[in-house]
Amino acid sequence: MGKKKKRAEEEPLNTDNIKEEQNDLNGDSQKKKKKKKKKWKEEEKPTVSIALPGSIIDNTQSLELATRLAGQIARASTIFRIDEVVVFDNLSSSVDSSDLTMEDGSHDDESGAAFLLRILKYMETPQYLRKSLFPMHNNLRYVGSLPPLDAPHHLRKHEWAPYREGVTLKDRNLTSGRTLVDVGLSKPVAIDQVIDPGIRVTVSMGTERNFNADIPHQVVSSSTPREDAGMYWGYKVRYAPNISSVFKNCPYKEGYDHLIGTSEHGVVMKSSDLTLPSFRHLLIAFGGLAGLEECIEEDNNLKGKKAKEIFDIYLNTCPHQGSRTIRTEEAIFISLQYLQEPVNGVLQKI
Ligand SMILES: C[S@@+](CC[C@H](N)C(=O)[O-])C[C@H]1O[C@@H](n2cnc3c(N)ncnc32)[C@H](O)[C@@H]1O
Repeated sequence: MGKKKKRAEEEPLNTDNIKEEQNDLNGDSQKKKKKKKKKWKEEEKPTVSIALPGSIIDNTQSLELATRLAGQIARASTIFRIDEVVVFDNLSSSVDSSDLTMEDGSHDDESGAAFLLRILKYMETPQYLRKSLFPMHNNLRYVGSLPPLDAPHHLRKHEWAPYREGVTLKDRNLTSGRTLVDVGLSKPVAIDQVIDPGIRVTVSMGTERNFNADIPHQVVSSSTPREDAGMYWGYKVRYAPNISSVFKNCPYKEGYDHLIGTSEHGVVMKSSDLTLPSFRHLLIAFGGLAGLEECIEEDNNLKGKKAKEIFDIYLNTCPHQGSRTIRTEEAIFISLQYLQEPVNGVLQKI
């Protein structure tokens, strides 16, 4: 795979990467950049992340079933407006995330984590951008049969929205400082920056439904639709080699400030009795076949620690279960529904 794919895949790891690169290309933007950063910080909306092990994919019996499972995680994340999905491995020591390569389209036998990340990213990407951003891969064979996410940024040609996701095209004009971007409309739009081709960008479409094609549009941070318009704008995905790296490599400068662990061994309480502190970055963790306790035991960085010490709250979100086990993908739906009221209580206060 070429450079463009790598950039598109790296983007979700750092939401501001592309914006910063673009500002650097745009010589006079340093001052603006500082101003914007300040504005984002002041108005920063709280985020909700989930973490789950890639091993849940390794237990599936076919590529079709693995795809369906990944699709369920993507649907749950979208339905519950999750901002970040972290897929972790159970490696005792940390490896660089670039070891989890998705660049070579020829490997079918990727790990459960790599597979899950690939499908999650693919599903989150608006349909009209997928061809440009995802080279053919055998493990994408069944994604066509998955129910779409139908997220607010998955816009159809005739739909208007104040923002659109796009991919930069080859047509750039260094003199005029413009680049054409495919934003899923019948014609590409121009943006007021020169950016390499094949980069996913968020374009501000302005306030007019019938925009003037001669006026260039602006690229904004992918968090702007959420920050400025309160729109759900999809989830970022991130790989973590083990559970301690989920916390340690948090992409938000301040780190996660409230950690929820889920387990049948957790505390039982009514959802309406649960009051969450006003978090900025909430993380909700799920375990695999043997639960979060095993993930913690196997992580050398957490030696001797118990789940109840790591998480601010360790919750049983489905007491009196009839089945002996609740599967991770089921627990994600159950727990996010259980947590919806307490989480919204915090989000609405801000
Ligand atoms: C197959 S279960 C693991 C069973 C394990 N004994 C446990 O700790 O819950 C997979 C994951 O589903 C979630 N889960 C299962 N039952 C749950 C429950 N009653 N409440 C909250 N989460 C649950 C947890 O995240 C768990 O790690």
